[in-house]
Amino acid sequence: MKTKLMIPGIFSLLTLTSMNAQNKAHLDKTKPIETRIDLLMHEMTLEEKIGQMNQYNGFWDVTGPAPTGGSAELKYEHLRKGYVGSMLSVRGVKNVRAVQKIAVEETRLGIPLIIGFDVIHGYKTLSPIPLAEAASWDMDAIKKSAAVAADEASASGIAWTFGPMVDISRDARWGRVMEGAGEDPYLGSKVAEARVKGFQGDNFAGNNHIAACAKHFAAYGFAEAGRDYNTVDISNSTLYNIVLPPFEAAKNAGVRTFMNSFNILNGVPATGNVFLQRDILKGKWQFDGFVVSDWASVKEMVSHGYAKDGAEAAMKAVIAGSDMDMEAHLYVEELAKLVKEGRVDEKLIDDAVRRILRVKFELGLFDDPYKFCDEKREKEVIGSKANHDAVLDMAMKSIVLLKNEKQLLPLKKAGQKIALIGALANDKNSPLGSWRLGSDDNTAVSVLEGMQEYKGNVLTYEKGTDLTVGKTAFIDELKFNNTDTSGFEAAVKAAKTADVVVMVLGEHGFQSGEGRSRTNLDLPGNQQALLEAVYQANPNIVLVLNNGRPLTIPWAAEHIPAIVEAWHLGTETGNAVAKVLYGDYNPSGKLPMSFPRNVGQVPIYYNNYNTGRPVDSDNNVFWSHYSDVEKTPQYAFGFGLSYTTFAYKDLQVAKSYAKGEPVKVSITVTNTGDYDGKEVVQLYIHDLAASLARPVKELKSFELTSLKKGESGSITFTLTDKELGFYDNDGKFIVEPGVFKVMVGGSSDKTIDSAFEIK
Ligand code: BGC
Repeated sequence: MKTKLMIPGIFSLLTLTSMNAQNKAHLDKTKPIETRIDLLMHEMTLEEKIGQMNQYNGFWDVTGPAPTGGSAELKYEHLRKGYVGSMLSVRGVKNVRAVQKIAVEETRLGIPLIIGFDVIHGYKTLSPIPLAEAASWDMDAIKKSAAVAADEASASGIAWTFGPMVDISRDARWGRVMEGAGEDPYLGSKVAEARVKGFQGDNFAGNNHIAACAKHFAAYGFAEAGRDYNTVDISNSTLYNIVLPPFEAAKNAGVRTFMNSFNILNGVPATGNVFLQRDILKGKWQFDGFVVSDWASVKEMVSHGYAKDGAEAAMKAVIAGSDMDMEAHLYVEELAKLVKEGRVDEKLIDDAVRRILRVKFELGLFDDPYKFCDEKREKEVIGSKANHDAVLDMAMKSIVLLKNEKQLLPLKKAGQKIALIGALANDKNSPLGSWRLGSDDNTAVSVLEGMQEYKGNVLTYEKGTDLTVGKTAFIDELKFNNTDTSGFEAAVKAAKTADVVVMVLGEHGFQSGEGRSRTNLDLPGNQQALLEAVYQANPNIVLVLNNGRPLTIPWAAEHIPAIVEAWHLGTETGNAVAKVLYGDYNPSGKLPMSFPRNVGQVPIYYNNYNTGRPVDSDNNVFWSHYSDVEKTPQYAFGFGLSYTTFAYKDLQVAKSYAKGEPVKVSITVTNTGDYDGKEVVQLYIHDLAASLARPVKELKSFELTSLKKGESGSITFTLTDKELGFYDNDGKFIVEPGVFKVMVGGSSDKTIDSAFEIK
């Protein structure tokens, strides 16, 4: 077919007629969804059912001529036959409408597609990378940020995001830590819930919320040595207590889909894993949405050595509960035959299809397949002023102040000479991160642009060095080994005459994300050399870090007086950084991941076990430590400063509680500095003696509190069985009597402590 797809041809009219001949009782909105699914499934052939389980990537300029070669032509053919249930990465109302029109008007049953897309931290107007957002510890803001992302994505025709990623990771070498909420399951669970609610809203009645997807189920964040896609080998305790809780939180928040993961767990790829998908997710947790495979992960089971060919891979994936095949093409190729040969029970197909249709019905796609295809909304919503304001707010909240000596910050607004140095200071592309498929390159506000808004000072800019060599793009193999020092001299000269030097250094946005693992977490390229050269000329440096993961910055941590962790903050990066540097926003972020001193400490995380030899009791060598570096991180989980200071006192908790009785813990926090500010008050527990060893600290509650200068506030936390218990090695949740240490403070490594007993 060579006609433009936007114009219904004779063929479409004919098929429309044939579809009209079908029973359309499932379109009756007054009937319950399960009844509508029954009615529709009754009409479906086996091939059409399997079609619902097949997801294709966008394959051609869908508003142009139909493809004529290779797999694109076949995909198009399948689409017309009703052998495609979903497409990903088709976007823009015009394009989505075009493919949806084929599904609705040209296929026999007219079942609408569900269009998915990686809306990871915003669609076009980008918010900070998810790790940065987690640093805000502000669940309302995170929810709002996801709602903004859903607003723009839905206005572009998209019905479903492949987010949130809720993988916990303790390994900064893994490039995808930028997509998650860091190392802690409690914070990770709260963030998962906020994101799901933000994307999905209360229901899908309007057209500005979309289905969310908790990914990657499960344990993908524990890839050995932080190398993406690598083997995972974890204990049951880690699986149940660290990995699974954020997924369960997402499920409880109503997430409608899950994505499985590329890794194996106990030798079984997640995609073929009955235990994960059938026993836990759909069994124990009673999840009634659907599971999509990760990209071609059904086929990758052959590479894993878990299936001998594509047919066996498809069979194992379906049996294990992978409902939709993303881009492996194996369901559409193999499943009908497998059912006919009796190797796959058709009931499993029915179950998968029912789940997929359920989500489509819930989204309202049967009632209006074009509900996300409103050109007017597309123009008004995407890139709106309100959305820019929202991502700016989120960006400021995500910034973490790591060091501020000599009161270098906030900067004075007038009468100063400021030298701004570093390639990333004038970069409008890097702050967008690597997941920015719906956005346009070079659209971030750079730090230079943000600082230029403050006109009272004299601002000079010197790049100093380039970070990247050559062009960078989403799928390029990147080169960050720049050794050219020719710009150092000018940078040093600018620093010499400045009152304050602001240096923006770190990773390029394309250096973190999928497939971007690193074994070296130092400042890439010759940025460290530049930093040291500038420091010789003028030590009054404010170092602004841009990065998608914890970096190792021991020299800077020791020498540089002020350090601001600014991650990759999205579209409004420069404005957010400038507002914080100039004190128009007082930073309150706290690290969601420990920053190692060097890469050899990785994995390093705060909720570790004590070991039998935690301290040097005999002044000897035989205790759990390193001989060449301290065992503590450079910056601990939960750490972050403010322009003001906070004092903690009066930690109160009763001495003992009956089992099941809520434990009340209260604390008084006072703003003792010179600015109004916000503080994340964190509560940790340690179950001192249990039937299984418990971590030395576990975050169990937190509260983001605003205090005016001089003001005190009392905060009361309530701990229930949910916070006091843990999972045993069989996945059973248990609460045991005994003594618990309770620790409250503004960082995991700075708390005041007490204890209580559960009788
Ligand atoms: C990633 C997923 C993503 C998918 C679709 C995969 O490579 O692991 O997180 O949603 O691609 O783009």
